Amino acid sequence: MSVTASAPAKVILTGEHFVVYGEPAVVMAINRMVYVSVEEASDSAITISSTLGVAGSFKPAGFVPLVGDLKTEKILNPIYIAAKSVLSFLGKRCGLNIKVDSKIPSSVGLGSSGAIAVATVAAVGALLKADFSREEIAGLPYEAEKYVHVKPSGIDQMICTYGGVIKFSKDKEISRLLTKVDIPLVIGNTGMQRTTGNLVSAVKAKHDAYPILMEQIIKSGGCVSNEAAEVLQNGDLDRLGDLMNINHGLLSAIGVSTESLDRLVNAARNAHALGAKLTGAGGGGCMIALSPPGNEDVIASAIDKAGGMPLKAKQTNDGVKTWVTK
Ligand code: PMV
Repeated sequence: MSVTASAPAKVILTGEHFVVYGEPAVVMAINRMVYVSVEEASDSAITISSTLGVAGSFKPAGFVPLVGDLKTEKILNPIYIAAKSVLSFLGKRCGLNIKVDSKIPSSVGLGSSGAIAVATVAAVGALLKADFSREEIAGLPYEAEKYVHVKPSGIDQMICTYGGVIKFSKDKEISRLLTKVDIPLVIGNTGMQRTTGNLVSAVKAKHDAYPILMEQIIKSGGCVSNEAAEVLQNGDLDRLGDLMNINHGLLSAIGVSTESLDRLVNAARNAHALGAKLTGAGGGGCMIALSPPGNEDVIASAIDKAGGMPLKAKQTNDGVKTWVTK
């Protein structure tokens, strides 16, 4: 038998980084998916093949790369950790063949690692007939996310487990936001891959150097998300755009924007975006622009002209799903 799970990508509308320090963030699942298929192996190895350009086998004697270069083990390790977390939670020992098919660009702030970890947990759990709750599916990938993010807030696992739009704070119940209107977004990818953990560590260094100042900025970031959650529920896109602009300013202040992110943000604003900001950890990766309804193509073409890769995204209410494939 083989089981497949899908999980969506995400964009953080407001509050990234500040969420690591306990403030709320608002995050939306988007209609780009990863698919993870799992079957029991005939040996004791956990073998992973993928569309990420890497493949390898985690055997009792150590890792054996099958496709890719020196980075192969590092890229596949979080998937292995996610699968192992399920096996140890269930007290099972067996080999697995895992296939990862990702439609989410990786290392650019769209939550590909979180989505892969969540889909892996859900697929392995369903294969082994564990009746996991959503809380368990969102919680079990923590070690895998820690490997990638250093000190993950848990936001990525949460949104791709539940889907929709949520207000998320560490150690608090999530609240689902029922939005009255569509949120027309254009994503701009700088094409520059980066590591979330490095950015989170850089912000921590700034916090250590300027604790009082950074606390004020972090609190303001939380304030932006509290207001964003309200205006979203009232369907007030103009105010949401303002809040996204303020959020980008705060993220620049803590040092995670870059010249190319700023260029795409400015291009989108000049093309009449209601607001624009970097999304995710920054340091490269993606920005998002909130478009007035019907103006998405104009913004996408401005992002393209400014050197970014535009991608129109729609909200999805689908969280993680599993089904038996054969
Ligand atoms: O991995 P990214 O780029 O989607 O960033 C996740 C958001 C951060 O707030 C920067 C980190 C976290 O764990 O919340």
